[in-house]
Amino acid sequence: MNQIPATEARTLHIQILRHNPSDPQSEPRLQSFEVEEADTMTLFIALNDIRENQDPSLQFDFVCRAGICGSCGMIINGRPGLACRTLTKDLPQHITLAPLPAFELIGDLSVDTGKWMRGMSEQLETWVHNQGLEQTDISALEQPMEQALADEIYELERCIECGCCIAACGTAQMREDFAGAVGLNQITRFRLDPRDERSDADFYQLVGNDSGVFGCMTLLGCEDMCPKELPLAAQIAFLRRRMVSTRS
Ligand code: SF4
Ligand code: F3S
Ligand code: FES
Repeated sequence: MNQIPATEARTLHIQILRHNPSDPQSEPRLQSFEVEEADTMTLFIALNDIRENQDPSLQFDFVCRAGICGSCGMIINGRPGLACRTLTKDLPQHITLAPLPAFELIGDLSVDTGKWMRGMSEQLETWVHNQGLEQTDISALEQPMEQALADEIYELERCIECGCCIAACGTAQMREDFAGAVGLNQITRFRLDPRDERSDADFYQLVGNDSGVFGCMTLLGCEDMCPKELPLAAQIAFLRRRMVSTRS
């Protein structure tokens, strides 16, 4: 990454892949903008500057501006990342932005990660399966949990469903039904949860296949690009070992 002294002002040249699939006249194209860099400017601020001062039709998503909601994922100079957590000073003067692949394009840099995540959640049944819960007896879910286990589950729950791991994964680009690191991370989370009554055989039915752990080719882009630095490769390896022992 290029670092610049705080005092050196730059004009950023930002190229953005523009396309609006709901407009039959729209053709994908790169459009260039220039933005005067400010101290501590993030890509999110630069994009807002463009939208407010140059092109109000530019589409991109944000909610929290703090790396929490996961809505501002995009391809930044060829790598997936969060616009709100990317400082322009850490980027070269020429910046190229594109929408995350593998998700339905809404327009420009805006993609429908929510639709993909819902489909994955339904495919993998990513919720606690517990008879007590189904009978609305929530006391069954309120048993104390070992702190170490709660911490382990909490660590996996730091996922913000931004989609960067999917955009960084070659398998996910080739297989529409691949659960990806985000899905396998969630399965590991429920596999660890003592309140979930599903057996290893039940989990095997869900991810013991090429859409799940056996589709992962250990490409490791997911872990490299995860903005929350989740230990995704270790989780997938753990899950694969469990699935292999369940199968044999
Ligand atoms: Fe984003 Fe990481 Fe969650 Fe993937 S695992 S969706 S990269 S936070
Ligand atoms: Fe994809 Fe990560 Fe596996 S990048 S192939 S899910 S290790
Ligand atoms: Fe919420 Fe970037 S705006 S993660």
